[in-house]
Amino acid sequence: MTDNPPSEPTARDPGAGRVLPPALGAGITTKPRQDGSPVEQQPHPTPPHRPTSHGDNRIRIADLTASYGGRPAVAGVNLTIESRQITALIGPSGCGKSTLLRCLNGMHMTVPGAGVSGQVLLGETDIYGGDVDFVELRRRVGMVFQRPNPFPTMSIYDNVVAGLKLGARRRHRPHYDDVVEQALTQARLWTEVKDRLKAPGAGLSGGQQQRLCIARAVAVEPDVLLMDEPCSALDPISTLAIESLMMDLKQTYTIAIVTHNMQQAARVSDVTAFLTVPEPGQPGRLIEVGSTQTIFAAPTQKATEDYISGRVG
Ligand SMILES: Nc1ncnc2c1ncn2[C@@H]1O[C@H](COP(=O)(O)OP(=O)(O)OP(=O)(O)O)[C@@H](O)[C@H]1O
Ligand SMILES: [Mg+2]
Repeated sequence: MTDNPPSEPTARDPGAGRVLPPALGAGITTKPRQDGSPVEQQPHPTPPHRPTSHGDNRIRIADLTASYGGRPAVAGVNLTIESRQITALIGPSGCGKSTLLRCLNGMHMTVPGAGVSGQVLLGETDIYGGDVDFVELRRRVGMVFQRPNPFPTMSIYDNVVAGLKLGARRRHRPHYDDVVEQALTQARLWTEVKDRLKAPGAGLSGGQQQRLCIARAVAVEPDVLLMDEPCSALDPISTLAIESLMMDLKQTYTIAIVTHNMQQAARVSDVTAFLTVPEPGQPGRLIEVGSTQTIFAAPTQKATEDYISGRVG
């Protein structure tokens, strides 16, 4: 497992990645060298523009290769993540699921030496096109991580509004009260914390902290929600709460979830994408994608069948 890579948010990189200083991500583009290896370019000289939502919140990934220090971790990915659906990314450890997910909101590029080639379109916005405001991008594309990462010294209330205090959707304080109640209600946490909103977020249980992080992610009303093994540290009750929240959110959001739990993928997702490393030392590849029903009932690739039936991985 590659828990907590340097690009995951910390107290100094809050808001599940969406309040990253522009200097760390804005406008950085990568294009492949002639030999195919990605090379970093300098930040784009023109001012970044805000990607605006046109109602098309599909993510279209074309021939995407993501690398660390010139070494591809996942290569040649073509995948459309449809809006108002849940897409599950499954596959053995190290096949590049988290890397792929982090490419979808630009977080991958915050890792020193990381590179990307290919294309990621959010609606019509080419997020590696060179003139995208990565701070605004991360508002549109929220992320929830495997380990709950609330800001430990901040209150529950302040954790929820942390992302709102920055960027375009800044509001006056009275409005925050409504947002906090709504986001905590959506995250199935409101009744448990409504009497202690000023208590530190770190004082909550692990499952509560994860729901707090989900509240923080939905408070900014993103278009896309990326979830990297969001339930792996949770008990079955909290897991079901988060799954039912996901079913609600998919009415309006584009959702991608990485999970090692095959039952969870089968329960919540509409589409399943299977990735694996074909040979040791090679980058991960997307092997098969299709409706979850088909992938679980009748996968076309033997590698997929072996994985979902528990024979490998
Ligand atoms: N920050 C990093 N620097 C260098 N290599 C990395 C980094 N993060 C991931 N990798 C490498 O990229 C490959 C894909 O890793 P990634 O974390 O995306 O896999 P994963 O499918 O999410 O695995 P897991 O199921 O264990 O979380 C692995 O070989 C990993 O070692
Ligand atoms: Mg991972």
